[in-house]
Amino acid sequence: MALIKAEDLQKTFKIYNQGEGIKGYLKSFVSRDYREVHAVEDLNLEIDEGEIIGYIGANGAGKSTTVKMLTGILEPSGGNIEVDGRNPNRQRKKNAMNIGVVFGQKTQLWWDLPVKESFRLLKEIYEVSDEAYDQRIEEFDEVLQLSEFWDQPVRKLSLGQKMRCELAASFLHHPKIVYLDEPTIGLDVAVKERIREFIKRMNREEDITVMLTTHDIDDIEDLCERIIVLDEGKKIYDGELDSLVNRFTSRRLVMDTRSTESIDLDLEGINEIEQEDGHIEIVFDREIISASDLMREVLERYDVLDFQIKEPDIESVVKKIYNEGLEEE
Ligand SMILES: Nc1ncnc2c1ncn2[C@@H]1O[C@H](COP(=O)(O)OP(=O)(O)OP(=O)(O)O)[C@@H](O)[C@H]1O
Ligand SMILES: [Mg+2]
Repeated sequence: MALIKAEDLQKTFKIYNQGEGIKGYLKSFVSRDYREVHAVEDLNLEIDEGEIIGYIGANGAGKSTTVKMLTGILEPSGGNIEVDGRNPNRQRKKNAMNIGVVFGQKTQLWWDLPVKESFRLLKEIYEVSDEAYDQRIEEFDEVLQLSEFWDQPVRKLSLGQKMRCELAASFLHHPKIVYLDEPTIGLDVAVKERIREFIKRMNREEDITVMLTTHDIDDIEDLCERIIVLDEGKKIYDGELDSLVNRFTSRRLVMDTRSTESIDLDLEGINEIEQEDGHIEIVFDREIISASDLMREVLERYDVLDFQIKEPDIESVVKKIYNEGLEEE
């Protein structure tokens, strides 16, 4: 059975229209004039133990809203959620002991307390034994190097230091599931790599299931085998990262020809031709024209010296989903 399961999940926010000035403001309290934002619509999810799921989509797609419902912070407007056999909103406390969560934009640590005191509090809250705690901190320190700023108050930490603490805090109590909502936002490459290494290790060594929201393609490529793409509250893709790439059928034929005459290819499936002297790049849709058919056509007409077919990179693929959406199969 799936560890995280959502069925027909819905979240609708009511936004009350506020009139002008103080009068309008007061009126908005009694007015029934509102519009609805369908932040999450008819969402079905099944996530198994041990997976690292990339949960992606454009700004406002409904990712954080989903995470808030799965963690029990928000009550769904409709549908069902079961996380490790529990309803996270109704059994919020029990669920909380079983999960970890990082919201990249917020902190779960105590702003004015030194890092070590924040962790002491978390230890008490999650009822972690002294022995397990010491071992955990030592282990985390290896990858996240927390001791560099162990005695500093949280508010004095740099963004990267703070995020390393957040990560450590969310995994402290050996949770079954950790939700990471933009854990790498605003961080430099070195810290991002450290954080990815840590997530991988936790997943591999402890089988902790991770749901990761990010706008960083490298995070996804490095960590996730499966991704779920959300667009305007609806799931538009759920599957392997690789097969998503295959669904984006645009390929690039890059070649060098002996002649410099302007290329003229009027074939269906060709989206774009760029030419600079003898160097030619053709963007084609391989569902309409195969690479071999295209090559044959080209070779009949031009004296080709060298050629290569380029696959699209993940970055452009996901950008494309962000920009255009994607029809569900
Ligand atoms: N508390 C709220 N009240 C009203 N509308 C909300 C609330 N929270 C979210 N929304 C709206 O719901 C939609 C989804 O927001 P959400 O924060 O889930 O998006 P997201 O995918 O996490 O985006 P981002 O990538 O920018 O973090 C947006 O249109 C947002 O304005
Ligand atoms: Mg968000």
